Amino acid sequence: MSRLFGVSYPVVQAGMIWVSGWRLANAVAQAGGLGVLGAGSMRPDVLRHHIHRLRAAWDGPFAVNMPLLYHHMPACLEVITEENVPIVISSAGSPAGVAKALAAADVVHVHVVAAVRQALKCQDLGLAAVVCEGYEAGGHNAPQGTTSLCLIPQVVDALEIPVIAAGGIADGRGMAAALALGAEGVQVGTRFAATQESSAHPAYKAAVVEAGDRDTVVALQALTPVRLIKNAFSQQALEAEAQGASPAELKALLGQGRGRRGIFEGDLEAGEIEAGQIAGMIADLPPAEEVMQRLVREYQGARSRLP
Ligand SMILES: Cc1cc2nc3c(=O)[nH]c(=O)nc-3n(C[C@H](O)[C@H](O)[C@H](O)COP(=O)(O)O)c2cc1C
Repeated sequence: MSRLFGVSYPVVQAGMIWVSGWRLANAVAQAGGLGVLGAGSMRPDVLRHHIHRLRAAWDGPFAVNMPLLYHHMPACLEVITEENVPIVISSAGSPAGVAKALAAADVVHVHVVAAVRQALKCQDLGLAAVVCEGYEAGGHNAPQGTTSLCLIPQVVDALEIPVIAAGGIADGRGMAAALALGAEGVQVGTRFAATQESSAHPAYKAAVVEAGDRDTVVALQALTPVRLIKNAFSQQALEAEAQGASPAELKALLGQGRGRRGIFEGDLEAGEIEAGQIAGMIADLPPAEEVMQRLVREYQGARSRLP
């Protein structure tokens, strides 16, 4: 995977809404990983601005994440091709609609999957790699709920293209485990959301640090399942689901801008506090460079401890 992306370490910083701007992507890139801009929360002009700021600070490879469920993605696709972005990691939808345009523009295209069948479709479409994301992961995840430990080896066995593991990886032990399962690299989300360069609100970061092992939940199963730190909003959503709320009712309850409120504005009660189960292990807010250094050091330690 390092070969595929031209980076020193097989570590991808997840492209996360309201978290992954140019500062975080630059810090990760400078430290030897793949920095990723999260276009999900950026208008096309904002995305262009972040691409320019990142390029002013870093002249190596980087990626843009395109969550395909958002209406502004076609406009972001134009920015991506105009700006000659080298790598795109698409998610939350079918990659078929953007694969041709990305291939025509010579963009390395990777897609996030949560099932073997989905991964095989990406391979058939000619994609360069898949990110294989287990149910532990923060943010939107797949309703079937397959966890990383079970999903990664099954996808690895089924595919010939590289597999990047995501979901529940926040230190070098997790990275060693993912590579032992056959992944060629890891995508790390929640750990990078709780770093100094992340653009999340300080209250969001504090909530991740304070969270314990039982503090996340998947809400909105019948709409777009999302893993959140438990709060008043997740409780409200779970109660509505228990009472049989329809997808339309859940959509009305969700309204607009919940992720922004929770992650960017720090509203810990009414906002969505997207974070993975591994938040329980995260206890500090280091610079992203230190996260990278720890990943590499702990990975080597984990390997040397194996019998
Ligand atoms: C705050 C937050 C926002 C996220 N936003 C996105 C997003 O915009 N697009 C996407 O593909 N994945 C998103 N994710 C999922 C990550 O890309 C990544 O796959 C996931 O966090 C990995 O699991 P981990 O949190 O256990 O490391 C988000 C995750 C978090 C925690």
